[in-house]
Amino acid sequence: MTPDEQKRAAGTAAAELVEPGMIVGLGTGSTAAWFVKAVAARTKDIRCVPTSEATAALARELGLTVVELDSVQEIDLTVDGADEIGPGLSLIKGAGAALLREKLVWEASKRCVCIAEASKPVKLLGKGYPLPIEVVRFGHGHTANRIADIAVEFDMPPARLRMTEGRGGPVLTDGGNVIYDMACGRIEDPAALASALKGLTGVVDHGLFLDLTDLALIGTDDGVVRMLP
Ligand code: A5P
Repeated sequence: MTPDEQKRAAGTAAAELVEPGMIVGLGTGSTAAWFVKAVAARTKDIRCVPTSEATAALARELGLTVVELDSVQEIDLTVDGADEIGPGLSLIKGAGAALLREKLVWEASKRCVCIAEASKPVKLLGKGYPLPIEVVRFGHGHTANRIADIAVEFDMPPARLRMTEGRGGPVLTDGGNVIYDMACGRIEDPAALASALKGLTGVVDHGLFLDLTDLALIGTDDGVVRMLP
C-alpha cells in the first residue's frame, strides 16, 4: 500500500465511529481529508467543527453542516492526523500550521482519535518532524530569542521561522500568527518541554499533544491497526 492508501484506510476506519446526530471535530491535513470524505459518504446528519479554514471549505463542499466551536457545549468525537505518534500516544502535530485550532477542538472533545499511515508511530518523539511553535506576530523575533534559550536548556537547536515558498514571507496561521519549527532530535521529556514553551509570553501554543489521544488508527499493509495509550 502507498502511504496515501494507508491514510485513506485509517480515515475510512475512523468514519465508522461516527453516528448520526453526533457533533464531530474534523482535523486538518491529508489524512483528515480522507476522514472527512468518508464521513460525508456515511452520513450528513451530523454537525462538524473544523480545525482549519481549509477543512471547513472541504466539509461545506461535501454538504456537511459546519458550526462554530462556541456554538456547541462539547464535541462527541474528533478525528485528526499527526506528524509523529510517540509513547502513550503523545503526538507532534502542526505541520499544516493548524495546531492551535486543532488543540482547542481536541480539548473540547469527549473522544479524540488519531489517524495516520504506518510511518508515523515512533519510539521517541522529535526525530522525524520538527516541533511547530505558534507565536504571536508582534515582536516574534524577541519571542524567538526566548525560545532559543529554552532550546539551549533542552540541548536542541534554535527554532526556525517557517517561510512560504518563494518570496511570500512567513507562513501565517488561520489566527494570523507565525510558526517556528524546532528540529528537536530527541524529546526525552515532552511534558517539561511543553510546559517551558507554554510559559513564554508570545508563544500561543506548540504542537505537542500530550494525554489527549484516546485511540490511534494506523493504516498498514496488514490492515488498520488500533493503538491505545
Ligand atoms: C495540521 O496542522 C497537522 O497537525 C496535521 O494533522 C498533521 O500534519 C498530519 O498531516 P497529514 O495527515 O497530511 O500527514
